[in-house]
Amino acid sequence: MAAPLTVSFTAGLSGPWRIDSVRPVVGEVLPIAVALSVSEGATAAEPGVWSLRGTISNLRYTTVAERTALVARQEGLGRAPSTRAALIPIRKTQAWWDLAQDERREILEERSRHIAIGLRYLPAVARRLHHSRDLGEPFDFLTWFEFAPAEADAFEELVASLRATPEWAYVDREVDVRLSHD
Ligand code: HEM
Repeated sequence: MAAPLTVSFTAGLSGPWRIDSVRPVVGEVLPIAVALSVSEGATAAEPGVWSLRGTISNLRYTTVAERTALVARQEGLGRAPSTRAALIPIRKTQAWWDLAQDERREILEERSRHIAIGLRYLPAVARRLHHSRDLGEPFDFLTWFEFAPAEADAFEELVASLRATPEWAYVDREVDVRLSHD
């Protein structure tokens, strides 16, 4: 079986993405750095101010109908007009991880409408979810988003909507890193 794809996000002095801001949302923030590089696969650890790793994994909570809707609307990373990005590392509480699978799904979708809300922002926002918890990393998830400058207000609205949901009561560390390139 092929190993899952590992993605490393390394912040330092150089890299294709300029770091515009590093903002604490909940808990300890990450150090400020100038640029970020994203590397896929088993690459040697690059020296940097900080480096976070995650893997591309299977879906946990998405129903077949939701998956069909996502696939129909979403577009891939790397679109030329998407010169803005956000890296939002998130950790959830032990109380979240102590829940059963069906209880977590209930909070994520039936009570918080995470997928329904997110779908409204496709295809403007392209996204990729990386899982870090089982790698012993400081965050459970590394969420990555790309969009055009004209969609920046819509992206703010999206993150504000999600942060106001019951799901976010289980987030105990979140940092919001905003990026751009020319
Ligand atoms: C998980 C969709 C935006 C943070 C998920 C899942 C879906 C989804 C379908 C569940 C994956 C699974 O079944 O395992 C979307 C869509 C968005 C969006 C369509 C629109 C662009 C966001 C934003 C954030 C975020 C803006 C952060 C501020 C997360 C996290 C998870 C997740 C942390 C993992 C939750 C967990 O497994 O406990 N998203 N999302 N999402 N999303 Fe979003």
